[in-house]
Amino acid sequence: MKKIVIAGGTGFLGQSLRAFFEQKGYQVVILSRTPLSDQANVKYHEWDGKHLWNWTGTLEDAEALINLTGKSVDCRYNAANKKLIYDSRLDATKVLGLAIGKCVKPPKVWINAASATIYRHAVDKQMDEITGELGTGFSVDVCRKWEETFQEQLVPETRKVVLRIAIVLGKNGGALQPLKKLVQFGLGGKQGPGTQFFSWIHEADFVQIVDRVIQDPSLCGHYNVAAPQPVTNADLMKSLRNTLHIPIGIPMPGWLLKLGALMINTETELILKSRNVIPAKLSEAGYKFKFATLKDALNDLLCAKQ
Ligand SMILES: NC(=O)c1ccc[n+]([C@@H]2O[C@H](COP(=O)([O-])OP(=O)(O)OC[C@H]3O[C@@H](n4cnc5c(N)ncnc54)[C@H](OP(=O)(O)O)[C@@H]3O)[C@@H](O)[C@H]2O)c1
Repeated sequence: MKKIVIAGGTGFLGQSLRAFFEQKGYQVVILSRTPLSDQANVKYHEWDGKHLWNWTGTLEDAEALINLTGKSVDCRYNAANKKLIYDSRLDATKVLGLAIGKCVKPPKVWINAASATIYRHAVDKQMDEITGELGTGFSVDVCRKWEETFQEQLVPETRKVVLRIAIVLGKNGGALQPLKKLVQFGLGGKQGPGTQFFSWIHEADFVQIVDRVIQDPSLCGHYNVAAPQPVTNADLMKSLRNTLHIPIGIPMPGWLLKLGALMINTETELILKSRNVIPAKLSEAGYKFKFATLKDALNDLLCAKQ
């Protein structure tokens, strides 16, 4: 039985991948800080995302290692949270590199999560992997150091791929559920100027892309994992209102968003940054998106029978 190891696999994206690969007949091994009971084809191994111990043996002869570890960025960016956001990503990446170095038969491919937020705030042009311009500030610095740490890991027998993931829209987690609630409360107007772009991807495409990366040895380096048509925030909110049949959406000016973010312990950057990212390398590799338009993605996620 082929084996896939997912570090940080208990979260939103990890559970989407677990379900997909379990159904495909793989054995899935999840590295988690919490001791969890094994299920049929899913095994859990405890680790701390920092130190080597006997979990390293789980990487032996794996088809793929997928690293999704990282403290959620949906929090206030105070000093303590900033440190956790950096450390959880950089430490896990380093220790996985060390663990691969100890394998007799190292994983064939190592896919490390990264973020499309590495690019600058862009309303004027779309950011692809070749001509896209990297930004500045805390979140971009996290992304840069995360990717640099990954590049520094010397694992000559393992193919390395970085996925710069846009905001994943899914049924069981991520950004879509809070947005849905906001719209249902009648607060689904444009947020801030509404001209900022929203790069997104349906979770079904996310898992298909991970699968494609595993199967296709010609893919290496970094890839933007975003649907080909980013939309403005005003269009996003309008599509949500239309899909949910909510005729009214009160707009949220920047000052109100700041107050709201403070009250719910998050940051307005997650809403106000213009993420205008396109998947040039995936398109060049011939990847066909199952959900290329936001309308189709929202219809599937919010209207289709479960
Ligand atoms: N979801 C998105 O839209 C999106 C977009 C771009 C990038 N990403 C990146 O993709 C990765 C996975 O995203 P996700 O949405 O699945 O995140 P998630 O639901 O928050 O899951 C991340 C996992 O990381 C582990 N973790 C959390 N804090 C940690 C810490 N301090 N030290 C070590 N491990 C820790 C947790 O596993 P245990 O508690 O079991 O150890 C958790 O299940 C993240 O790195 C995220 O930044 C996500």
